[in-house]
Amino acid sequence: ARVRHHRWEITYQFKSPDCFQKLAVTINGGTPGPTIDAQQGDTVVVEVKNGLLTENVAIHWHGIRQIGTPWSDGTEGVTQCPILPGETFIYKFVVDRPGTYIYHAHYGMQRSAGLHGSIIVSLPGGVKEPFEYDEDRNIILNDWWHRSTYEQAVGLSSIPFVWVGEPQSLLINGRGRFNCSQAGTTAVCNPNSPQCSPYVLTVVPGKTYRLRITSITSLSALNFEIEGHNMTIVETDGHYVEPFVVKNLNIYSGETYSVLVKADRDPSRNYWAALNVVSRRPTTPTGLAVFNYYPNHPSRSPPTAPPTGPLWNDTDYRLDQSLRIRARRGYAVPPPRTADRVITFLNTQNRINNRTRWAVNNVSFTLPHTPYLVTLKQGLLHAFSQEPPPETYDYQNYDIYAVARNPNATSSDGIYRLEFDSTVDLVLQNANTMNPNNSETHPWHLHGHDFWVLGYGKGVFDPEKDPKNYNLMDPIMKNTVPLHPFGWTAIRFRADNPGVWAFHCHIESHFFMGMGVVFEEGVDRVGRLPTSIMGCGHAKVLGRKP
Ligand code: C2O
Ligand code: CU
Repeated sequence: ARVRHHRWEITYQFKSPDCFQKLAVTINGGTPGPTIDAQQGDTVVVEVKNGLLTENVAIHWHGIRQIGTPWSDGTEGVTQCPILPGETFIYKFVVDRPGTYIYHAHYGMQRSAGLHGSIIVSLPGGVKEPFEYDEDRNIILNDWWHRSTYEQAVGLSSIPFVWVGEPQSLLINGRGRFNCSQAGTTAVCNPNSPQCSPYVLTVVPGKTYRLRITSITSLSALNFEIEGHNMTIVETDGHYVEPFVVKNLNIYSGETYSVLVKADRDPSRNYWAALNVVSRRPTTPTGLAVFNYYPNHPSRSPPTAPPTGPLWNDTDYRLDQSLRIRARRGYAVPPPRTADRVITFLNTQNRINNRTRWAVNNVSFTLPHTPYLVTLKQGLLHAFSQEPPPETYDYQNYDIYAVARNPNATSSDGIYRLEFDSTVDLVLQNANTMNPNNSETHPWHLHGHDFWVLGYGKGVFDPEKDPKNYNLMDPIMKNTVPLHPFGWTAIRFRADNPGVWAFHCHIESHFFMGMGVVFEEGVDRVGRLPTSIMGCGHAKVLGRKP
């Protein structure tokens, strides 16, 4: 195994990814940032210098479990103090599983300012994938706003509340296209900027490509389609999928998929790769890339209209694709047959002090100033609420199909403490928002673990009946899973990774508005904490001296 060393400087730069110029947070000047390429078992070392003038930073390695290194998870307020302007922080962790992963900022809403990239972990030499392809390509999907992250965050915390709204553009590998004639007169918008020419994926006729597709959106659920070409889904979140063919792929923020695409169509032309918003009524134009058959010129526009994707509100279509994702035969890891503890999470939109918030079981999460990992390990228990949040909600009396009679909720930074090595079931239950006949899609992401996806269903989860239909045969393992509108999703995991781990909705504004929880397990087994994660809140006295 090798050590892969990276040296990154984080800075703001003027960028025009969709032709409209704004400030973006970059790594060594770029967004998306550099791809981390490694082999299973390698150690990745990333020296992050915060070159932002007035803003903290923290970077999370999404999908990497951080076994033995919980302090490198990069989650501000949970596993570390933020990296201050001018400071350097060293992340060091082992990539123990092959697959497609993501890294991104985990401080406030900073992720949406552009700090993200791919982590590709390849198999050790001599080991083969259970499928064949000629070449590999990374595709990062994102949504993009012209207002700054600060303006968005202030709006969400304001009275009256100002919603971030739908994105202005969809980006494929950091490239999109905004119609500059709609930009205000003070805006800098250049339709001829080379930064906003579409991404070109050049293919050789007859070859098969493995597209490693990642969604890092701040809000949007997406549908990705390559005009006229089928895709075979073979991997998700680092686990092999029993292959199945789709015309288009639904992908939620925080998920990764590998799909195989064969360049087997008329090679005399190019084709559109199209990205469309689903689940929310789209107001954002289709994101486009060019699927370029060699040797056609890459800038030659396809002669056809780009695909518009499935109906945005066809929840059944998306639920159906979720249900088809099973572990590949021969690779399924059987889950424990039963759980030691079941926690049910009712997902609701709420009002607290005239602000709109999100809550689970009527508790809206707030991050403490001292990271939990430090607090728990050093016994500074006064640093957060010692009242454990609720395990369930009153499911016999709550109407998930109606706007709540009482939308009030409480705020808390209390956490769930799990028995080490126990098996835990989490049942996510969706509900109506504060708007009539409306329920949203929430992609939930668990840090520090993969979980088994036991099932999805419509309506109210029945704790007597529904577990009888759990898939214990070939459930896929993932780290991010959608909760569909008015439905439920059940997952199971082993609390066998000593540390403190966030579990939250991967929609940037939803987590910012309280949609998350934190689990602790086996913190007494965590090794000596590096002092570099300290230096804020009650951990200040423990931090390093300047
Ligand atoms: Cu990719 Cu806590 O997030
Ligand atoms: Cu959400």
